[in-house]
Amino acid sequence: MTEPEKERFPFGENWLNFLNILSEAHIAEAEKSLHTFLGDFDLKGKRFLDIGSGSGLHSLAARKLGADVLSFDYDLQSVACTKEVKNRYFPNDPTWEVQQGSILERDYIESLGKFDVAYAWGVLHHTGVLWQALYNAQLPVKEDGLLFVAIYNDQGIISSTWKIIKRFYSSGWLGRSIMSLIFYPIFFFSGLLLDLIRLRNPATRYYEHKKYRGMSLLHDWRDWLGGYPYEPAKPEAIISFYQNLGFELIHLLPPDIGFGNNQFLFRRIKHK
Ligand SMILES: C[S@@+](CC[C@H](N)C(=O)[O-])C[C@H]1O[C@@H](n2cnc3c(N)ncnc32)[C@H](O)[C@@H]1O
Repeated sequence: MTEPEKERFPFGENWLNFLNILSEAHIAEAEKSLHTFLGDFDLKGKRFLDIGSGSGLHSLAARKLGADVLSFDYDLQSVACTKEVKNRYFPNDPTWEVQQGSILERDYIESLGKFDVAYAWGVLHHTGVLWQALYNAQLPVKEDGLLFVAIYNDQGIISSTWKIIKRFYSSGWLGRSIMSLIFYPIFFFSGLLLDLIRLRNPATRYYEHKKYRGMSLLHDWRDWLGGYPYEPAKPEAIISFYQNLGFELIHLLPPDIGFGNNQFLFRRIKHK
């Protein structure tokens, strides 16, 4: 079961807005980050599944790196964003398909076939059923194929407090307005203070945020504040979960800030 619809953050609305500022520089950074995290794995001609594609930016990065891409998202506006990005950069390309679907629908996932890479960045902890989503995300990975997941770090009481904040934000216009009035100034002034202490130009943090996977700081603030359902996990729990399913961990990138995403790259161990 998923969380009640009324308390689900409209991710696609944020992504539609992000498309207004999407530039070649964002795309180049998204491509670079995907390429770097995959190491020496060459995406050319490989099947890449983008689970919860959001804006479609990382599907685009995978396609630019030569993969055959299948993108899907639960949110209709996110699907529209991914379609818009495809139409802008790869119109009429039969090797990139965009669909509406949920990682929680096992029959749908199994109908998609097998992939060299399954990619679920910042998605599974927003489904309301994290462990089911983690399980379903590995189903389409081929033998020797890769699974790239990013999951919010569990910081105990701090994460529980954020869960309450996010839930209230997503409960309706009142929660959204109150939480926005409180937290956007906190995000803005805490950044400003840090920059002043470090004698750094305060505009740099906004401009340079695209170095983080091609993202935008203002859109990331909104995604963070509203992103509900929210189920963070400790990295050890994710690692042992996938090891028990026959995967080996080949790369782990912990978050720069404690509540961010841990990024994991697993490989499905090939049977001898
Ligand atoms: C934080 S965004 C991440 C988007 C993208 N993966 C990225 O890295 O920028 C989370 C996305 O997961 C999608 N999502 C949430 N629940 C989902 C589900 N059950 N199945 C597929 N996508 C889902 C949301 O609609 C949203 O677009």
